[in-house]
Amino acid sequence: MAGPVDLAFDPWDPEFLADPYPAYAELRARGRLIRYEPTGQWLVPHHADVSALLRERRLGRTYRHRFGHEEFGRSAPPPEHEPFHTLNDHGMLDLEPPDHTRIRRLVSKAFTPRTVERLRPYVHGLADELVGKLVEAGGGDLLTDVAEPLPVAVIAEMLGIPEADRAPLRPWSAAICGMYELNPSEEAAARAVRASVEFSDYLRELIAARREEPGEDLISGLIAAHDEGDRLTEQELVSTAVLLLNAGHEATVNATVNGWWALFRNPGQLAALRADHSLIPSAIEELMRYDTPLQLFERWVLDDIEIDGTTVPRGAEIAMLFGSANHDPSVFADPGRLDLSRGENPHISFSAGIHYCIGAPLARMELAASMTALLRRAPTLVPAEEPRRTPNFVIRGLAGLAVEVA
Ligand code: HEM
Repeated sequence: MAGPVDLAFDPWDPEFLADPYPAYAELRARGRLIRYEPTGQWLVPHHADVSALLRERRLGRTYRHRFGHEEFGRSAPPPEHEPFHTLNDHGMLDLEPPDHTRIRRLVSKAFTPRTVERLRPYVHGLADELVGKLVEAGGGDLLTDVAEPLPVAVIAEMLGIPEADRAPLRPWSAAICGMYELNPSEEAAARAVRASVEFSDYLRELIAARREEPGEDLISGLIAAHDEGDRLTEQELVSTAVLLLNAGHEATVNATVNGWWALFRNPGQLAALRADHSLIPSAIEELMRYDTPLQLFERWVLDDIEIDGTTVPRGAEIAMLFGSANHDPSVFADPGRLDLSRGENPHISFSAGIHYCIGAPLARMELAASMTALLRRAPTLVPAEEPRRTPNFVIRGLAGLAVEVA
């Protein structure tokens, strides 16, 4: 174990955010478990440890199924944050068995590989249309013209959110996701609370309408599952819809722009991809590894656990560094090199264990659709300027990606 030390790991430093990977190498060299005072967490930077801990039942995304706040040595969140927690804490991502198992099974029934596969023509058609407009305009912002509208429309379509209602989805999601950053500010919390109230109110109305008049959409499917066996409460229904809508686009948006910015910085690899589109599937995996869209996930220690000779006690919090694990040289040869034809690629960008991303097949399809359309219809695409990063660490992305069709 390494003790409190002066680390290059500083998630609030723009220089670190520009390229966190050298700081991760330093962390991995320091040890398997590093106490990090600014957040009171234990950092875990190695692939083998992250991979094992994601499957570890002594850890949990929540502790509330077993302990009260005080009993666990934590303080209850302030009452004014309650709308955010009510919404967040009833989604499957923040539940543990048995509730997690029940909800995940139900959602999986509606969110099958077949449902996703049926969407393929729609997803590719939409990607083609969006890229077509970008090309006609001679360029634009890859973020707002392609990366955002594609996954937002797809997940909204799946859930049956009418087109006219979609504009606030992205700002609501961004406000809620602000709470997943490390040590969020009071202003960020206030924005998340406001968005939680508005988003929940909207969905309650939509659910009531679908209950009256069911459609072919996922919300109607979840209501039916709910009504048959009383297995999803009304709050769980709202929380599940919000989780699907937010998780259903946030990371895909960032994976798209991080991926293209990585390609632009590696012209040799981009040229190889342009010459051989059969590299698309392995390119997508490699880009998700190379610049990991979700950098950190946390787990509570529910029962004492020993890591590298140190007992991490119940009540502690572990922060698993996905970006670091994805650059661990004991798993990935020459991890700092973008290699679109990398064969074995056991990156953990979609997590592992019981919370493994339920949307991974959809995300892969969306990323392949936009990449195919951009390679085919914009073979001369170049960046117009160096993009700015968002100030976020956990959800790693760009504030925009200006491009030109040369
Ligand atoms: C590139 C895109 C995506 C990435 C990198 C990603 C990544 C992840 C990760 C890392 C987790 C687990 C977090 C943890 O273990 O604590 C997760 C869970 C989840 N993801 Fe994704 N995701 C992506 C796209 C999607 C899409 C398109 C959907 C569509 C519905 C989705 C829905 C979910 C849901 C519902 C969960 C919770 C699963 C559970 O708790 O059992 N994700 N995702």
